[in-house]
This record gives sequence, C-alpha cells and structure tokens, in this order.
Amino acid sequence: MSQQPLRIGFVGGGFIARFHIQSLVEVRDCEVTGVSSRTLVSAEETVALAREIGVGASAKAFDSTAEMAADPNVDALWICARNDTRVEIMNAIKEGSAKRETPLKGICLEKPLARTLKEALEVKAIADDIGVPTGYLEDMLFAPSLVRSKEVLWRRGASLAGRPYLARAAEEHAGPHSAWFWQPEIAGGGVLLDMMCHSVEAARWLLTEPGAPRQSLIPIEVSATCENLKWTQPVYAKQLQDRFEGQVDWEKHHTEDFARATVKWQTEDGQILLSETTSSWSYVGAGLRHTFQLLGPEYSLDVDMAEAGVKVFFSREVKGAAGEDLVEKQNAEQGQMPLVPNEPAHYGYAGENRHFVNAFLGHGKPQLTFDDGVEVMRILMAAYQSSAEGRVIDPRDPGLIDYQPLTSA
Ligand SMILES: NC(=O)c1ccc[n+]([C@@H]2O[C@H](COP(=O)([O-])OP(=O)(O)OC[C@H]3O[C@@H](n4cnc5c(N)ncnc54)[C@H](O)[C@@H]3O)[C@@H](O)[C@H]2O)c1
Repeated sequence: MSQQPLRIGFVGGGFIARFHIQSLVEVRDCEVTGVSSRTLVSAEETVALAREIGVGASAKAFDSTAEMAADPNVDALWICARNDTRVEIMNAIKEGSAKRETPLKGICLEKPLARTLKEALEVKAIADDIGVPTGYLEDMLFAPSLVRSKEVLWRRGASLAGRPYLARAAEEHAGPHSAWFWQPEIAGGGVLLDMMCHSVEAARWLLTEPGAPRQSLIPIEVSATCENLKWTQPVYAKQLQDRFEGQVDWEKHHTEDFARATVKWQTEDGQILLSETTSSWSYVGAGLRHTFQLLGPEYSLDVDMAEAGVKVFFSREVKGAAGEDLVEKQNAEQGQMPLVPNEPAHYGYAGENRHFVNAFLGHGKPQLTFDDGVEVMRILMAAYQSSAEGRVIDPRDPGLIDYQPLTSA
C-alpha cells in the first residue's frame, strides 16, 4: 500500500553515502531530500547522484547539518560522515530538531558508532535527549546470503542437532580509500575499529537464535592481537604518504593494519560459544577477502561474499584505467576477476535501508539501534585492551568506558 515516503537527509556525501543512495532504487516509500557534507560542493555532487538515479527529485544540498535537521522536508537522517564527527553531528541534529514542528522520525548512523566507548555513550545520550528512534547501520546483518543461510541453518540444523557453537568472520582488503582512515586521531583506530565492528557483530548475530534478544548471548572474554604487517614498512609508508599528499605518515604515526579477536560468549543456560574474527588492510587479492562460517554439532555454513558467481577475464592486451567498477576494493584490471552484479543489494545496504525506512514509518521496531552500536564498541575496546596488555579482557569491565586505544597502543 502506498503511503507518504520517508524523506531522508544524508549527513556526509562520500563513499558510503553514495552506496546507500544507490541502494534506494530497491527501497519503496522513501526519497532523498537533503545532503549536508563538509563542503557544499560535495553535498551537491551527492544530490546530483540521487537525482540522476531517480531517488531524489527534490533533493537539496544544505550548508549545515543543523539546517537540514530543522527542514520540514526532511523526516529522518542517515549519518555517513567520518568517525571523528559523530558528537558534533549529533549536537547539530539536536539543535536543528529543537526548531521542528514535527519530530524527526529516526536517525541512522554508520558503523562504528564512535571512536571510543565513552564517545559512543555520548552519541547515544544525545539521541536519547532528542528522543528519536535510532538505527545502527550494520549492513552484514541484512546481506541476503547471510540472512537466508542463517534462517536455513537454524531451522533445519540447530532445531534438531543443537545450537551452533562457533562463528568465524573475516573481512580483509588492501586498505581504505580516504586519508582520514589512516589518521589515528580522526579515525580513532585502525582496521580493528574500521572492519572488525562488522565481523564481531555478524558473528554474534549468526550465533544468536532467530528472534532471541541480544542479551541471550553475553560476551564474557575477549582476547585479541593487533599488528602492523605491511603499511609501516618504509616503502609502503612512502606509498601512503604519496597517495595522500603528505597527510599520512604511517611509519611514525599509525594504528594497526591487522587484527584478530576471539570472543567467548555465554548462553542463558551456561553453554560457551566462540567467535573468531580477523580484519586486515594488508590483504591483496582480486577484491575483498570476506568470509563467514557457522559451525554446529551436525552442520556447518560457509559464505564467501566475494563469490557472486560471476568472473570476467581480460588478457594482457587490455590495459584499462584503474577503478572499482567490478568489485569493491578491486586490486587489478587484468586476468580473471570477480564481478558482483549488484553490490548495494549483495552487501545488505538495500535490505538494511528497507528495514529502517519501514521501522521509521511506524512498521515495526528497528532491529539494531544505537544500543547495539554501543555493545559492539564495548567488545572492540576490550579487544584493543587485550592486544595492548597481552591478556584476556572481560568486556563487562566498567573501566572500558575510559579506555583510549590510541594512548594505550
Ligand atoms: N558499512 C560499511 O561497510 C562502511 C563502508 C565504508 C565506510 N563506512 C563508514 O561510513 C563513514 C564514512 O565513510 P566513507 O567511506 O564514506 O568516507 P569518505 O571519506 O568517502 O566520506 C566521508 C564524508 O564525510 C563528510 N564529512 C566530514 N566531516 C563532516 C561533517 N562535519 N559534517 C558532514 N559531513 C562531513 C566528507 O565531506 C565526506 O563526504 C565512516 O564512519 C565509515 O566507517 C561504512
């Protein structure tokens, strides 16, 4: 049944905002009506994309996020800006929202919720002050391959043989696209913060019985290792310096380009489950290495997100320009290459946006909120502390609220 669409304003007009906007061609009952970004030019470029693909005929570029949050043609905000701007942006939304006649219907925020647990709690407190429904954007929980395989495995396997006990998730690529990810104070952390947030949460969700609340699995121990395998080497540090025109000095001032973590989870009846996750910015392959496994007593699941069933081949005579038109984080243009036909749907953005649009229009509760983003941060901070101190950390330790990975590395 058709209804008034949810009118979305995007904060941030970069890589991920564009991915979300592309996914909206597959989402009913919404349109893009605004974009604010660090510069008006970048907001205008993203508005142009929304118009061009037919998901934002009346979209407008805003000079400020507060102004966009106050605009009566904007019902909800999707925050897709860099990690250091979370609190500033939430305060701008609060300022704009105070001027509205009708309240905002929702705020979605990209992973990670913030740079530290303390900052994540501040972000959540501002949302609570505004009194608005929230959504934590973790696309993997909406990726069709994972949604479908989790449903089948629990229905056919776990119901007869017992629950799954081990989840593995890996997300590895050759390093992020913008300078700020490599600037410790802006990003807040390296690959652990940037990518393990996906893997830890996806593993937890795979281990969780469908329909059961988050609290049905309690994380009780985290052990982790962070390392620099590639980008601190002088030749690669120099590459980064050149690529980002001197803004990045990874040899002297870095976070981590590799991380692994093991989380021990306890069920309500005392069973112990494990998740094993790895994240890397030092992996070179055709595109991403992006895998999931779920293992139980009489069954197992394997998902390779990089395998969409399509491969193309270009001989050495085909020397095209470098790009990411075949697959995200593409590393080559020749030889046999994977091709993902519909990345916004495949990685879960379409499903995720469909879910939050419906929830903010009043059809059901958001499946993931800022509370979930806070819980993910708790595990990530425990992982940083574990790596820095070489010991197992209890993520329930209240001291993690003050944990600062950058000063403890
Ligand atoms: N879900 C995913 O898989 C995924 C993938 C990539 C990025 N992300 C997350 O999305 C966020 C953005 O990453 P990106 O890859 O798009 O980065 P990007 O560098 O491509 O874009 C960042 C955008 O933020 C804007 N910005 C910076 N400061 C701002 C401010 N104060 N107000 C408004 N806009 C501001 C910039 O103008 C730019 O448009 C990050 O938090 C990142 O972790 C998530």
